[in-house]
Amino acid sequence: MCGIVGYVGRTSGRADAGHGALDVVLEGLRRLEYRGYDSAGVAVVADGEIFSRKKSGKLSNLLAELEARPLPASLTGIGHTRWATHGGPTDQNAHPHLSDGGKLAVIHNGIIENFAELKQELLAKGVVFESETDTEVAAALLGDIFRNKLNGDVSDGGLTTAMQLACQRLEGAFTLLAVHADQPDVVVAARRNSPLVVGLGEGENFLGSDVSGFIDYTRRAVELGQDQIVTITADTVEITDFYGAPAEGKEYHVDWDPASAEKGGFASFMEKEIHDQPDAVAQTLLGRSDLNGKLTLDELRIDPALLKKVDKIIVLACGTAAYAGMVAKYAIENWCRIPTEVELAHEFRYRDPIVGPNTLVVSISQSGETMDTLMAVRYAREQGAITVSICNTNGSTIPRESDAVLYTHAGPEIAVASTKAFLAQITAAYLLGLYLAQLRGNIFSGQIKDVLADLGKIPAKIQKILDNAGELRDLARSMKDEKSVLFLGRHVGYPVALEGALKLKEIAYLHAEGFAAGELKHGPIALIEEGQPVFVVVPSPRGRDSLHSKVVSNIQEIRARGARTLVIAEEGDEAVRDYAEHVFYVPETPVLLMPLLTTVPLQIFACELAAAKGFDVDQPRNLAKSVTVE
Ligand code: F6R
Repeated sequence: MCGIVGYVGRTSGRADAGHGALDVVLEGLRRLEYRGYDSAGVAVVADGEIFSRKKSGKLSNLLAELEARPLPASLTGIGHTRWATHGGPTDQNAHPHLSDGGKLAVIHNGIIENFAELKQELLAKGVVFESETDTEVAAALLGDIFRNKLNGDVSDGGLTTAMQLACQRLEGAFTLLAVHADQPDVVVAARRNSPLVVGLGEGENFLGSDVSGFIDYTRRAVELGQDQIVTITADTVEITDFYGAPAEGKEYHVDWDPASAEKGGFASFMEKEIHDQPDAVAQTLLGRSDLNGKLTLDELRIDPALLKKVDKIIVLACGTAAYAGMVAKYAIENWCRIPTEVELAHEFRYRDPIVGPNTLVVSISQSGETMDTLMAVRYAREQGAITVSICNTNGSTIPRESDAVLYTHAGPEIAVASTKAFLAQITAAYLLGLYLAQLRGNIFSGQIKDVLADLGKIPAKIQKILDNAGELRDLARSMKDEKSVLFLGRHVGYPVALEGALKLKEIAYLHAEGFAAGELKHGPIALIEEGQPVFVVVPSPRGRDSLHSKVVSNIQEIRARGARTLVIAEEGDEAVRDYAEHVFYVPETPVLLMPLLTTVPLQIFACELAAAKGFDVDQPRNLAKSVTVE
């Protein structure tokens, strides 16, 4: 969702070296733009005044505005990239929003649920609103408290106290950052259910909705807890709760390399991230088993006796992460013999789910900030479940609020469409499943060793697919005018089909649907007409019973009705050649691990087709990288 940056420096710090607040804030926004990007804005404090610029559209629009109407040099600033919730993406609705006669500027991520009631109250006091946003209401409330309640008194921490009082009245999810002309060397921020991280510098401090906001300047970061307020100056960072009681943050080192957040020579972040996948899987496997092939997930730190008692697993996630969960279900049930459900996180807590102390809830989230998933995890915890998070973002909220975390080490994922995180999530979920099986003695240690050895071979196999993707790219380019593409799969190939369709929808804006191949005859086959392209993820012929032959029959059924069949199959599967217009072979691998390979051609196809249509692959319309509202 929205990207947020805050900065305070001092004259002997970075500002002296030519980096004013604006440079730092804009660089942070550039890195955070992927979170949400329908408008952007900045505010700086200079000469006892607030100066602000904001523009709808991409960050480049704001940069053009700043060139036309430059801002004065400043040591204190805030910046925002917006993903609209309340009010359309217009200049007026862009952040920052001003109040207190233009002396206070506020930016916000999240949704203020009681904004309508607060707005009525403020309207009655004569406040005039210029936008349709809930943010402007928060800004007005803060300004009103600062001016009327505290009499604009800055001697007693004015803006911090005003923020505490304002937050006591706000409901919903929010990260708020504020600067005031009367306190030129301070940024005050608040967080409830929405991400915010502090960056510690020398003679300067930073705020960001994630570490990408300041990764160019410091690797020292501080995690904040829920319902906390942080006040930064160039030399100090003070944290309190919403009632002013001092609180502590947890410092950690950011090991992401800024260069790894760059495109590395590829045309888009998505393309780069698809190519990062051998490494993402390898890194996720690294250090998690010993030389004897025994899993050593010490980081889980959950009493093994508790895990042994687990009688049900619920996987909670959204979008691509939920498809990773669907893949994992097949493996976990197979290895652990524990009933495993996969549920979209936003549905979970609204259906009175059956959860108890022997339920293991596994959440999967790249960002660790997805509000739907966070709320579901909280609910599960309240019901007494054991919660484990599979997450890619160190220090994010979901792992912090879970009993344990298993990090995927995919590195920063910048493109909105998830690719490398998906494969890393499947890998981590497999490790978790194997660990449970090891602990509970469900499968022999020799079998675990074999699966780990097979997982260890996956990175090289992905690389092989990447190296041989030329034909697939040509096909994607030739299909740029298609109106609809369907995807079929069975068993672990079913979530792969869903993921293939999702990728195409979100970046190529093309109608795409994934089906379980067996479901076809129950309705969707009516969609098949002459020339309809259908990708079919074919299971290994070495796999279970008649799975392969059933899918081959499905291919024949749709072919007979005119479908153009594009098949993803395992090397050596010559039988499918007769029924397919194109076959893309992936290396042989055990059936349960196949999604780690069969997904890759579908990602490449979507990326290439979207690029051929001339779309911005990394920042598809209407979407944000991290969905921090419900
Ligand atoms: C699709 C995509 C989304 C995310 C979903 C969950 O390419 O990226 O469907 O998978 O929004 O996000 P995380 O994993 O951050 O919880």
